[in-house]
Amino acid sequence: MAASPLRVANGTRRLGARGHQFTVFEDLDLEVADGEVFVLLGPSGCGKSTLLRVIARLDQLDEGTVEVAPGPGGRDVGIVFQQPLLLPWLNVHDNVALGLSYGANKSANEDGLIERTLAEFGLSELAGAYPSELSGGQAQRVSLARTVVTRPRVILLDEPFGALDPLTRRSLQQWLLGIQQSLGLTVVMVTHDVEEALLLGNRVALMSPSPGRIVRTWEISSEKREPRQLAELREEVLRTYGEVASGRAPSAPEAGASPLRGAVSPTR
Ligand SMILES: Nc1ncnc2c1ncn2[C@@H]1O[C@H](COP(=O)(O)OP(=O)(O)O)[C@@H](O)[C@H]1O
Ligand SMILES: [Mg+2]
Repeated sequence: MAASPLRVANGTRRLGARGHQFTVFEDLDLEVADGEVFVLLGPSGCGKSTLLRVIARLDQLDEGTVEVAPGPGGRDVGIVFQQPLLLPWLNVHDNVALGLSYGANKSANEDGLIERTLAEFGLSELAGAYPSELSGGQAQRVSLARTVVTRPRVILLDEPFGALDPLTRRSLQQWLLGIQQSLGLTVVMVTHDVEEALLLGNRVALMSPSPGRIVRTWEISSEKREPRQLAELREEVLRTYGEVASGRAPSAPEAGASPLRGAVSPTR
């Protein structure tokens, strides 16, 4: 079997000045399979963004290791935040092209790649538009295209739809699902929204705060997407989420909850 694209082992991160340190998360393990959507779910402040920043190498672990395999153009991770962070003086085409103009990504700039990506993302008609002319949902699609065009092995999404109104959010979730499946993207997504986690995840890992730990992982197989099973799963995830958010220990896992170790083949 090919090595997993992403593995974190015994990850611990502490923050704060010496003598006043607190542990953001500790002894955290995760492994993600190719083509999987791995969702990290948890209440605000439990360390989700810190973990994503560590995986993106915008931050470092105090203990433990992160391994990410390179993608076809040599790039390992790309990250998308809640805000699209587009450059206002560049149009959509040039914002997407921007990702290809740096170091390791230069070789990935094959003919037509940008145009192809714009088409895949439903952005061809907006190629000449400037960020100020885009809706929030369109801008976030451009932001994702700018990352995907560099073909990172793993795409990290930190609450990518958190700033959007509920209807746009809903339609972008469906859109992301389609694009993830058609391009076979490997995704680690952070959210505090249980519905979003269950809709998008092949696996959903629940983090508890102070210090952050993964307390439970659910594998969302295609059978679990049957309406009755999904309703039961939603209840269980919501109950467990409520327990960890209020600082209680989560009650015992029910049949079907799976241990985290060992990457699984994605099913939907
Ligand atoms: N640069 C920083 N300095 C000090 N504390 C931080 C810093 N970044 C995050 N924190 C704290 O670390 C904890 C985890 O934050 P974060 O990873 O942003 O959580 P989440 O994304 O789950 O809401 C929070 O208590 C937050 O206040
Ligand atoms: Mg966060």
